[in-house]
Amino acid sequence: MGSIFIDTLNGKSSSRPPVWFMRQAGRILPSYRALKKNYTFNQLMRDKSLASKVTLLPINDLGVDAAILFSDILIVPESLGLELEFTNLGPKFHNPVNENSNLVIDYTNFDHVYDNIKEVIKNKPKDIPLIGFCGGPLTTFLFMFRGNEKNKSFDAAINFFRKEKKKSMKIMEMLTEASIEYVKNQVKSGIDCFQLFETYSGIISNEDYKNFILPLSTKILLEARESGVPTIFFPKNFNEGLKYINKEMCDYVSVDYDISLDNARNLLDSEVGIQGNMDPKIFYQEIDEIENYLKSLIDFGSKNTDWIFNLGHGFRPDIDHTKVKYVVEWIKNANWKR
Ligand code: CP3
Repeated sequence: MGSIFIDTLNGKSSSRPPVWFMRQAGRILPSYRALKKNYTFNQLMRDKSLASKVTLLPINDLGVDAAILFSDILIVPESLGLELEFTNLGPKFHNPVNENSNLVIDYTNFDHVYDNIKEVIKNKPKDIPLIGFCGGPLTTFLFMFRGNEKNKSFDAAINFFRKEKKKSMKIMEMLTEASIEYVKNQVKSGIDCFQLFETYSGIISNEDYKNFILPLSTKILLEARESGVPTIFFPKNFNEGLKYINKEMCDYVSVDYDISLDNARNLLDSEVGIQGNMDPKIFYQEIDEIENYLKSLIDFGSKNTDWIFNLGHGFRPDIDHTKVKYVVEWIKNANWKR
């Protein structure tokens, strides 16, 4: 049996858009929360049978068309020697980066991820593809300065980027180098698609992102494509900057909810497909309001067969997963007029 998700990425038109969600394998699922009673996030990520189990939870619990590897983007800064802890308030580094940091890449830090991928491949249904990922160079760089989980600002990183441009670029080049090796090995281990999460591309100007960071993001995406998998780029809040993205960089772009699908479609190169962009806050509304939102997508969905349904950003933990399941069913059963 083929996969509607991979077919769509490869330019084949189907009767409906494929559907999956960013952060689908997390705290919205009662099955995940039950596991979290016995294990920490880190334990779930490091043990291949647990990581594989969590990766596949949303296939059964939500009915989505693809699985995304259960891991985190902060594994890459960890490979540069930063000691990572996931606290209840969010991630922090015990030795956050500063102007004197001496960073060296330890490639063995990724080994457990490759084992996890192989375990998922062994256990997943044949028609469900596995998405691998890493963070974009800017997003990962921003977190590397976070030494206190209570301070959620990226001011230290942004100030460093403004004052120490050369050193900042050196760090992001190292992240890129580590990410490339990481991505190549994810593909070798069996992922079917690769997504680059550049969640904070909007924190600097579009021009700065385009001039300094986009060449690095592109390098990672192209290495993934050359290794043999289709690629999705998620530059959140890049807004008008979407006009700079073309098929020479990636196959699909995941867009956030600050821009409409139609506007994103007009800005993007016509050869690049679109993923997105439901506002997760819509899940706080009643079912009939959620259905009105879904109906409003039929027009876009009928005209655009190169579209993957997803969120504009990940779920908040308090979203009712039964509503998410309802949305998946609705998308699968609607008449998309294709
Ligand atoms: O389900 C999935 O999407 C797959 C796994 C995944 C996680 N993180 C698991 C996770 C993915 C793709 C990520 C990406 C990620 N991680 C990003 C980029 C995308 C985004 O949402 O912006 C970023 C910025 C991170 C860094 C990170 N990891 C933060 C800021 C936090 C704490 C806040 C939060 O949402 O919990 C994490 C922890 C994290 N990563 C959890 C999960 C399931 C929560 C861990 C728990 O169960 O307590």
